[in-house]
Amino acid sequence: MENLQELIESADTLISLEEARIEIFGKKGVLAGEFAKMKSVANEDKKAFAQNLNIQKAKLTDLFDKKKKVLEEKAQEALMVKDGVDVTLFNGFDESGSLHPVQETMNKIIDYFVSLNFSIEEGPLVEDDFHNFEALNLAKHHPARDMQDTFYMNDGTVLRTHTSPVQIRTMLDPNVKPPIRMICPGSVFRRDFDVTHTPMFHQVEGLVVDEEGKISFSHLKFILEDFLHYMFGDVQVRFRPSFFPFTEPSAEVDISCIFCKGSGCRICSKTGWLEVLGSGMVDPNVFKAVGYENVSGYAFGVGVERFAMLLHEIPDLRSLYEGDLRLLEQFR
Ligand code: PHE
Repeated sequence: MENLQELIESADTLISLEEARIEIFGKKGVLAGEFAKMKSVANEDKKAFAQNLNIQKAKLTDLFDKKKKVLEEKAQEALMVKDGVDVTLFNGFDESGSLHPVQETMNKIIDYFVSLNFSIEEGPLVEDDFHNFEALNLAKHHPARDMQDTFYMNDGTVLRTHTSPVQIRTMLDPNVKPPIRMICPGSVFRRDFDVTHTPMFHQVEGLVVDEEGKISFSHLKFILEDFLHYMFGDVQVRFRPSFFPFTEPSAEVDISCIFCKGSGCRICSKTGWLEVLGSGMVDPNVFKAVGYENVSGYAFGVGVERFAMLLHEIPDLRSLYEGDLRLLEQFR
């Protein structure tokens, strides 16, 4: 029996321990052989013989179990050393996230106006009719509302169709007095869905108000031209007469096509120009609605997705909101 203990103790791998197990405990092993000898033991000695053998077996089993545990731990440790990863090593993969192209474009727009001392104002996404339409010279049932068809709630509230209501809220704020120089970035909602429209999109609108006569169309022209050069580089800028209920006069602003340099292509519909924003001098009716007198001002509105599409040559605006990593990873 002593040499059996020795057999277990000298095993230094799980394989040699398994060999020892078969030799000792196996069907044809030493213990089985010992138990077989029972037959030839005298009847009165059988009990003592079996007892003794069982004690030996229990001892060996215990020894075996302990040894197995030790060797298993040793094997596990060896495996960890072999397959170990040094987590402090630089792995060369850049798995970090990045800003969504719309957010990145918005930040770029905001940076420009913040550098000129414009404040950033925010307001609710669910608006009432007064702030979203009426105060902006869009009377109830006026056909100009069709340009901003949207989602009306039963209680008369509306998902804001532009960020202009933030301008109304800012002017109505008793703590705010002209001069005002503000932008209002944020999401807006309309009933549109095609390659250049999604039901939710983002705007950065701006408003400048000062004493009557201090703000003229030339200020508006200068700042928008400078802003568009900052965004798109060396482009031509043109102001085209247009209509918005809240500005008078109003102008839509175009840049020379950044893809064909103005010679005419598919993206600019062969016109050589890309429409990029709306602007104008604030309509007196808007000032009346907020109780402002003897002031003048200008306003403008930028569609952030439109800018992102142009800057990154994104063909379908809806792809920006599909959450497809293959698109988003291109902006890392
Ligand atoms: N609020 C207008 C829109 O969403 C944009 C705009 C703002 C146009 C200010 C002119 C002046 O369409």
